[in-house]
Amino acid sequence: MKAIAVRRGDDSPVLIEKPRPVPADGEALVRTLRVGVDGTDHEVIAGSHGGFPDGADHMVLGHEAVGVVEDPNGTALSPGDVVVPTVRRRPNGSNEYFARGEPDMAPSGEYHERGIEGAHGFMAEYFTSPAEHLVECPPELTDLGFLVEPASITEKAMEHARASRSAFEWSPESALVLGNGSLGLLTVAMLSDSFERLYCLGRRDRPDPTIDVIEALGATYVDSRETPVDDVAEAHEPADLVYEATGFAPHAFEAVEALAPNGVAALLGVPGDWEFELNGGAIHRELVLHNKALVGSVNSNVRHFERGVESIAALPDWFTDDLVTGVYGLDEFERAFDDDDTTIKTAVELSAR
Ligand code: NAP
Ligand code: BGC
Ligand code: ZN
Repeated sequence: MKAIAVRRGDDSPVLIEKPRPVPADGEALVRTLRVGVDGTDHEVIAGSHGGFPDGADHMVLGHEAVGVVEDPNGTALSPGDVVVPTVRRRPNGSNEYFARGEPDMAPSGEYHERGIEGAHGFMAEYFTSPAEHLVECPPELTDLGFLVEPASITEKAMEHARASRSAFEWSPESALVLGNGSLGLLTVAMLSDSFERLYCLGRRDRPDPTIDVIEALGATYVDSRETPVDDVAEAHEPADLVYEATGFAPHAFEAVEALAPNGVAALLGVPGDWEFELNGGAIHRELVLHNKALVGSVNSNVRHFERGVESIAALPDWFTDDLVTGVYGLDEFERAFDDDDTTIKTAVELSAR
């Protein structure tokens, strides 16, 4: 079968041939339909995040997949079921996090992430997966099923953000999303029903398709070159929620200044090492005297995927039409990895429905 992989030492994806995988006990064989590309894939290809499977000279890319069950192999699934795989897998044997269905909370060393860290991804014509890591997707959502994984990331982050505010009456009205990449825009859309006022920060000049999407969602575009994160509260308003999806490390700390009293900032970005100066005393004081919280969040579990399915189903068609700027077949898969200002969200189509 064909697969899209990155080879050790390379910095761009290539099309390779691999044997079709054979499902083990408890695993189903899935024919892959579409696999999305996000900022993490670019980090993996650049070698700044994740790592190859032990001993492998390549890693199959892709962690945002949707496929159709080809062979249930004795699991409770049926041929033709449309499924979305979760990302983390047991590294060897089980551990308490997987046993209780919370692999997203496992520390380093206690998980692999398919297509990211230590395990091949889903960007191949077929993949196998334990049935417990496959979430059913309604057939009408098949074409957008690759958006369920990123939606699940926001479902988890919001669950943790809300949980951190659950000890008191928290009625958030304003949210500031940092980052106008695919995760940031998807999050603005997902939050638009529950927040009265939304802001989304980028660093682009108009005209720009992401700014058009932000404004069509009823949110206000904030240019970080004119209004740095720690000036947003004064220039616009303090935010009850900040959702960081830039990977730009200073934002994690500037977010504290952007928050309203009793607010929470969820940090999603995965920056490399980066030393910079900051006023630690002011940040510490703000957190304490205004009951603010910073919550880091990574990955997601089956529950978040199930909610992600609902969130994707609720998105307006115009939004997903504008968000997904390209779905490319294997003959032009390279285009899915283009990273210019006209590209928002792309996917590779491995096989047709
Ligand atoms: P992405 O497409 O690279 O988006 C990042 C966006 O942030 C880009 O649009 C970029 O703008 C913008 N940005 C970067 N620095 C900025 C600055 N100083 N001011 C304003 N805007 C800035 O990546 P993504 O897929 O949306 O993901 C976002 C981040 O979340 C990445 O770091 C990714 O690794 C991480 N992530 C984490 C999880 C998790 O589980 N924690 C899950 C998914 C993704 P330009 O395009 O104009 O450069
Ligand atoms: C993926 C997550 C993963 C994280 C860190 C994200 O892009 O969507 O599933 O846990 O990267 O590797
Ligand atoms: Zn991702």
